Amino acid sequence: MKHIRTQVGIIGAGPAGLMLAHWLKQHGIESVIIEHRSRAYVEARVRAGLLEQNTVDILKGLGLAGRLEREGHLHHGVYLSFDSERVRVPFGKLTNGRNITIYGQQEVVKDLTDAWLAGGGQLLFEAPALQIEGFDSPAPKIHFEQQGEKGVIDCDFVAACDGFHGIGRKTLPKQLYTEYSITYPFSWLGILANVAPSTDELIYTYHQRGFALHSLRSSTVSRLYIQVDNNDHIDNWSDDQIWDELSVRLGTPGWSLQTGPIFEKSITPMRSYLIDTMQAGRLFLAGDAAHIVPPTGGKGLNLAAADVKHLVDGLVDYYKNGSMRSLDRYTETALKRIWRAQDFSNFMTTLFHKQDEHGSFQYQLQRAKFRYISQSEAYATTIAENYVGLPFEAFT
Ligand code: FAD
Ligand code: DHB
Repeated sequence: MKHIRTQVGIIGAGPAGLMLAHWLKQHGIESVIIEHRSRAYVEARVRAGLLEQNTVDILKGLGLAGRLEREGHLHHGVYLSFDSERVRVPFGKLTNGRNITIYGQQEVVKDLTDAWLAGGGQLLFEAPALQIEGFDSPAPKIHFEQQGEKGVIDCDFVAACDGFHGIGRKTLPKQLYTEYSITYPFSWLGILANVAPSTDELIYTYHQRGFALHSLRSSTVSRLYIQVDNNDHIDNWSDDQIWDELSVRLGTPGWSLQTGPIFEKSITPMRSYLIDTMQAGRLFLAGDAAHIVPPTGGKGLNLAAADVKHLVDGLVDYYKNGSMRSLDRYTETALKRIWRAQDFSNFMTTLFHKQDEHGSFQYQLQRAKFRYISQSEAYATTIAENYVGLPFEAFT
């Protein structure tokens, strides 16, 4: 039986768990991370790529943005298209110089894992948490196992950064929270391909065949997505079919899409989900463990980073001043941004996805909204400031 004693026991080595561990360390607070999967699995998991200004600033503040600054792509605007009409929403003027950076989530995870281990941090891979005990006492325990051996972490606090399918949320007593959820009637088929991006900035588009998004990873790797039905399967799509569909949906007069070898493809369902309590005693949930947004707008990873900031503020207050006051306000503070992001993600999703017949009432509303972007700087500003992410002061 393995026994570990630490101040904060962290479940999950995704972006939320890793950022939390580094940030606590910066404040002299000890933590240990346990991760269900292997290091190779976690580092290969292809997901988001859009980092808000806040998230980049957090990583810089932790001294973890070296590679991100060298290899990430700073974007000062975004293209939005509808029925092959395209407008650009610039960020600089509309958001006082805030912007976004494109840098793959798994690169963030690699950088944070390398730095944590290099600094002597404890991170146990292939070590699933099995049970959280005593979260309503001052001495909670996380029971886990690793390679058949049972283990226990004795800690002051448990941070469940264990994603949507983790045990953190399942441990929270059901009577403590209300659950809100929407499942969308479509999914995203996402690819990574060895081809130079055909655009300098991201393109989100509505097309009568469905949504498409052109993103990128580097000067030689592109990331693209198309809307597909929920019951579709990746085996139904040959690489040529994917490129044909992307070319049709993203096409505008005078612009065409470069194609190349696809090396990763998968389908992700889309859901809006949250619970309105992220704490039970000394158990705290952060990131996907507490909420999911549909990916249109790229908020998931950034919300995880914002939760971590509020959790760190609370834990620092506890260890410096012996006060639970900020920690007990964690849910209330975090939820303000979470609901804002839920609204924006739902807005972007309903604006750019095909929902019923082309030309329907719903379609006309979508088109009217799209036209309004170029008619009104106020409307364009609303989109820009939500897209780059509102500063932390906006939610105090
Ligand atoms: P996760 O990254 O899920 O990390 C949780 C970690 O906890 C995992 O490593 C998991 O293995 C571990 N874990 C789970 N249970 C246990 C346990 N019992 N014990 C120990 N460890 C455990 N967002 C965007 O903005 N844009 C996108 O394009 C996008 N695409 C996505 C595609 C997919 C397939 C998924 C699932 C998510 C996507 N997201 C996207 C969302 C974004 O990736 C997440 O919001 C982000 O990963 C949240 O980070 P996290 O640390 O909270 O959770
Ligand atoms: C990416 C993903 C998103 O969901 C998004 O809105 C923008 C970019 C990406 O993977 O690059």
